[in-house]
Amino acid sequence: MTSLSLPDVLPAPRRPSADSVPSLRWGVLGTGWIASRFVASLQASTTQRVMAVGSRTQQTADAFAATHSIERALGSIADLVSDPDVDVVYVATPHHLHRAGALAAVAAGKHVLVEKPIGLNAAEAQEISAAARAAGVFCMEAMWTLFLPRFDVVRQVLEAGLLGEVHTVLADHGEHFDPPHRILDPAMAGGSLLDLGTYVTTLATWALGPATRVQAAGSMTPSGVNGQAAMVLTHAVEATSVLHSTLLTRTPTAATIAGTAATLTLPGPFFMPGDVVVTSADGSRSVTWTDPEPIGHGALHHSAVEAARCIGDGLLESPLHPAEAVQHNLRALDEVATQLGVTYA
Ligand SMILES: NC(=O)c1ccc[n+]([C@@H]2O[C@H](COP(=O)([O-])OP(=O)(O)OC[C@H]3O[C@@H](n4cnc5c(N)ncnc54)[C@H](OP(=O)(O)O)[C@@H]3O)[C@@H](O)[C@H]2O)c1
Repeated sequence: MTSLSLPDVLPAPRRPSADSVPSLRWGVLGTGWIASRFVASLQASTTQRVMAVGSRTQQTADAFAATHSIERALGSIADLVSDPDVDVVYVATPHHLHRAGALAAVAAGKHVLVEKPIGLNAAEAQEISAAARAAGVFCMEAMWTLFLPRFDVVRQVLEAGLLGEVHTVLADHGEHFDPPHRILDPAMAGGSLLDLGTYVTTLATWALGPATRVQAAGSMTPSGVNGQAAMVLTHAVEATSVLHSTLLTRTPTAATIAGTAATLTLPGPFFMPGDVVVTSADGSRSVTWTDPEPIGHGALHHSAVEAARCIGDGLLESPLHPAEAVQHNLRALDEVATQLGVTYA
């Protein structure tokens, strides 16, 4: 066991304050569950301005705009992305439509923040980020977890080497869904992998780097989507991650990153605001960072603040979640899907 002394307090998060970044004009594509929470979070906690919402139907756009006091309600993707009062488009449609929405926004010269997963697979992710780069616009997957203050504490713990040599990541994400949720629909690229599994594989590849080997076991639902998946990833450094995602049951949704000197735990739900606990390898000492933010989707705005910070700085991607990292994650998920016989229409 390596002996490294733990500090009395964990590093404070360094995320930019919401009023320190440019106040951008947002267009929201889609009027569903996450779009509603994203807009509410922006309006409650930032100076970002939601100017327009785009839907497949004018009626739905009107209703969403009325609920969220949004000036402009537009009845098509084309109208939203060509709106001259929109700087950045947030794509909040089901996964299989991210590519079309993101490419339309990029072609119209808009910056783009795309819900997770940015595409159905690594090839789509590559295509979207290459198009954005060629157009000179900012593009980021809205993997909101990585922009939470909680994760900046984790980032600093890792950077400071407080865990010693990191060899292990354990993480699960399990929630129960009933029909007619889109996660159960094969036509909407449903299944546990792209909605829930992507959180655990993102965490593992973020902490340990790209997977060099992937082993998966799992099962399908009667509707024909992946119900659950157990995944073991081997990483280039001498490290292993053991991961699980399920849409059948509620599991702890906790995460552990363990090293030779200490173990970091993220009590569930690990992907939301919450505490960070670091315990020495001999178990004798523990230090906790207590998150002042409540658990929940009220924290979605951190990804918008990161997008605004980057766009203000003239960056085309976020150093906290670059296109390359997204592809590492999706390549691992592609391999899991192949091993489990999962295909997306
Ligand atoms: N970050 C997070 O915590 C989080 C949580 C949940 C979901 N998400 C992600 O957000 C995305 C959307 O998920 P959601 O749960 O918000 O889905 P949802 O409630 O079904 O909403 C999706 C919206 O997309 C639009 N849409 C366009 N074409 C559609 C089609 N063919 N079928 C259905 N809807 C269509 C619809 O708006 P119109 O009818 O107005 O066109 C619909 O309201 C997913 O990729 C998911 O992974 C992220």
